[in-house]
Amino acid sequence: MEVHIHREVYNLLKEAEMLVIASPIYYHGISGQLKCVIDRFYSAAYPRGPKNLKKVAMILSSGDANMYEGALFSFKGDFLDYLRLENMGVFTAHGSENKSEKKREELRAFGASLR
Ligand SMILES: Cc1cc2nc3c(=O)[nH]c(=O)nc-3n(C[C@H](O)[C@H](O)[C@H](O)COP(=O)(O)O)c2cc1C
Repeated sequence: MEVHIHREVYNLLKEAEMLVIASPIYYHGISGQLKCVIDRFYSAAYPRGPKNLKKVAMILSSGDANMYEGALFSFKGDFLDYLRLENMGVFTAHGSENKSEKKREELRAFGASLR
C-alpha cells in the first residue's frame, strides 16, 4: 500500500511544473513531516531534478511573527538553489491571522496567482 502511494507521488512529480509546499513552523523551522518529504526528493532529484519541474511556492503558518528564517533557509537552499526552481513566492500567516477571513482571502488570491 505504502509503496503504491510513493509511486503515485513520484509519477506526479515527473509531470509537475510547480511545487506548492506548506508547513507550520515547528521549533523555528519546517515540520518534521515536510523535512521527510524533502529528504525523499533526493532519489527523484539526483543527479538532476524532475524534468518538468520549474517553479516552487511556499505557504507557512506560525504562532509568532517573523519566525520564518529556518524555513526560508530550506526553501532557498533545497528548492531555489539545489533544484534551481523559480521562486513563485512565500505566503505567511501567524497568530490570529491563521483564523482570519482576511488572510484566507489573501491566501486564495495567492493560490490563484500561481500559474
Ligand atoms: C511542536 C510545535 C512547535 C512549534 N514551534 C513554533 C515556533 O518555533 N515558532 C512559532 O512561531 N510557532 C510555533 N508553533 C506554532 C505553530 O506554528 C502553529 O500552531 C501553527 O502554525 C498552526 O497555527 P494555529 O495553532 O493558529 O492553528 C509550534 C507548534 C507546535 C505544535
